[in-house]
Amino acid sequence: TRTSFRSTISLEMGKSQDELKKEVGYKAVDDYVKSGMVVGLGTGSTAYFAVERVGQLLKSGELKDIVCIPTSVRTKEQAESLDIPLVTLDTHSNLDVSIDGADEVDPDLNLVKGGGGALLREKMVEIMSEKFIVIVDESKLTDGLGPGFPVPVEITPFCHEHTMRQVAGLASCEGCKPVLRMGSSSSNVNDGDEIAVTDNGNYIVDLHFDTPIKDARKMAEDVKNVCGVVDHGLFCDMSTVVIIAGSDGVSVKK
Ligand code: 5RP
Repeated sequence: TRTSFRSTISLEMGKSQDELKKEVGYKAVDDYVKSGMVVGLGTGSTAYFAVERVGQLLKSGELKDIVCIPTSVRTKEQAESLDIPLVTLDTHSNLDVSIDGADEVDPDLNLVKGGGGALLREKMVEIMSEKFIVIVDESKLTDGLGPGFPVPVEITPFCHEHTMRQVAGLASCEGCKPVLRMGSSSSNVNDGDEIAVTDNGNYIVDLHFDTPIKDARKMAEDVKNVCGVVDHGLFCDMSTVVIIAGSDGVSVKK
C-alpha cells in the first residue's frame, strides 16, 4: 500500500499505478537478473513485483543458481514464500545487482528512500551491488528532493528527542519539520499512536520540507555525522540505473 504522504494517482485512459509498478518490476528482473547472480531484493510495493518475478523465473527454470539478499523482514517473508534461495551480506558481500523502488528521484538520480522503513538494510545491500536498478512509476520523478516526500532518518531509541533536535538544527536541514514516525510497522502508514520500530529496533524521524533541499549531498553527510543517527534515506551518487514506467511506456535513465 502507498503511504499517506503521497496520494495514489489514477492515470486516466492508461494503466493503474499498480500496473505500472508491475511492468517496471518485471522488466528490471527480465533485463538485469541472470542465472548464477547474487541479487539484492528491495522493499515496497514496487519491489514486491520484482521479487514476484524472480520467484516465477526460478520456478519455470528460466533462472538458475541465483541467491538473493532481502532488504527487510517483509521481503524475506515474501521471498521465502516463493522458495527463493536466500543468503546474507555476511557470506556474500558482493552483489551483481539489486533492484528496489524509491520515493523520489531527482534529475541527478539522487534518491529519497525509506518510506517503507527499510532504508538501513536497503543501503547496506545496495551500496555493495555492482548495479543498482531503481524501479519507479513516473509520479516519483521530481525536480528537487524534499517537498514531495519527507526524508526518513533512522535513529537509536536512546534519547531520540535529543537526536531529532540535533538533526533538525543542522544548517543543511534548515526549514525542516522533524516528525517521529508512528504506527504498528515502520512503513509510514501512521496507523497507531505507538512509535514505529524498524526491523533493526530503531525509530524513524521523517524530515518534512516545504521547499527543495538545497544541497542533498551535504545534508546526507551532515545527518550521517550526528551521533545517534544510524542512517538516512538520501541515496546520493550511487551510479544508479532508473527504470521509469509512465503512461507513455517505459524509459531508462542512467
Ligand atoms: C522502503 C523503500 C521503498 O523502496 C520506497 O518507499 C518506495 O516504495 P513503493 O515502491 O511502495 O512506492 O525505500 O524503505
